[in-house]
Amino acid sequence: MKMKIALIPGDGIGPDIVQEAVKVLDAVGAVYGHSFEYATCLAGGCAIDATGVPLPATTLETCKKSDAVLLGAVGGPKWDKLAGSMRPEKALLGLRGGLGLFCNLRPALLYKQLSAACTLREDIIGDGLDIMVVRELTGGIYFGERGRSAAGDAAYDTMAYTVEEIERIVRKGFEIARKRRKILTSVDKANILETSRLWRETVERIAPEYSDVTLNHLYVDNAAMQLVRNPHQFDVIVTENMFGDILSDEASMITGSIGMLPSASLRADNFGMYEPIHGSAPDIAGKDLANPIATILSVAMMLRYTFSLTKEADAVEAAVSSVLDEGWRTGDIMSEGMKQVGTKRMGDLIVSKVK
Ligand code: IPM
Ligand code: MG
Repeated sequence: MKMKIALIPGDGIGPDIVQEAVKVLDAVGAVYGHSFEYATCLAGGCAIDATGVPLPATTLETCKKSDAVLLGAVGGPKWDKLAGSMRPEKALLGLRGGLGLFCNLRPALLYKQLSAACTLREDIIGDGLDIMVVRELTGGIYFGERGRSAAGDAAYDTMAYTVEEIERIVRKGFEIARKRRKILTSVDKANILETSRLWRETVERIAPEYSDVTLNHLYVDNAAMQLVRNPHQFDVIVTENMFGDILSDEASMITGSIGMLPSASLRADNFGMYEPIHGSAPDIAGKDLANPIATILSVAMMLRYTFSLTKEADAVEAAVSSVLDEGWRTGDIMSEGMKQVGTKRMGDLIVSKVK
C-alpha cells in the first residue's frame, strides 16, 4: 500500500517525538511492504511565528489531500498571552472542525510494566486498567455560539447538538464496545441539560440494534467519581465534547503514564488525525528527553483505524511492550532498577523490535 501522511510536528517536544514515530512508520513500511510519503506542515505556535496565524490554510489543504495526519503537540508559554482566536489551541479546533473529525478515541491503558505509576491503590486497580473514552469532537459547547455583552460584564457559551451528531458518535461507541468487553457507558447531564436529554433519548432509541452490548447511563459528576472509585466497571465511555475532554484527562491520569497514551480523531470514512494526549512540554524540547511512545502508539492507531493494517498495528504495540519488558525507560516513566534512555534511543529500540 502507498500512503500519504501529513506531519504536523508543532511546538515544544512535538518535532522530537514525531521524528521517532516516522522512524517506526518507515520500519513498518520496510518490513510489510508499504510506502509512506510525508508532507510536513505548520500549526500552532510555530505557525503563528512564521505566518501570523495558528492554522495556515495551506496546512488544512495538505491535510485534506493526505490519507492521515500525525500531530506532535501545539502550544507553549510563549503564546499564552495571545487573544483567544490567535492561540495555538485554535489550530486543533480548526483541524478538528475543518477535517470533520467528530470521533475522538482516547484509550486509558495501564501497562503492567508501569503499574507502579498508577495513581490508585493496588486493591482498587487490581490487574490493570483498559478503558476507551469515545469523545464527540466537533459539536457542543466547543463549537457553539459565544460572546460578551456590549458592556463586557456578561458572557455566554452555547451547547447545541443535533440528533444526527449524537447518533453517529453513539454508534461508534457501540461498535467499539462490540469489539471489546461489550459494556458501553453513556455519560450525560440529563437531569439538567436539554442537550443531554436529547442525547439519552437517542442512545435509548438505537440501543436495541446493539443488544449484545450492555448499556449504562451515568451523570457526568457520578462518572467522574466512579472512575476513581471502581474503574473496572468501565469498558467504553461515550460522551459529548466537553465531558469527554474532562473525563479523558481523569482516565488517563489514573494510569500515571501520560507519556504513553495515544489518541485518534476520526471522520466517518476513517480518515484520521493521530496525536499523543500529552502536551508540548517546552521545558524539555530538543533535549532528547521526551518520551516518544505515545506518538509511536498513535502511529499504531493510524495503522489500525485508518489503514486497517491490523497486523502492522499489533507489531508496533508488541514492539513497545517488549522494549518495556526489557526495562528500557525514558525519564518520565523511569523507576529503580530500570535502564534510562533518551528520545532517539527509545525510538531506535522500538524500531529494532519491529524489524
Ligand atoms: C484536548 C485539549 C484541547 C481540548 C484544548 C487544547 C483545545 O484539552 O485535546 O483535550 O480542550 O479539546
Ligand atoms: Mg483536554
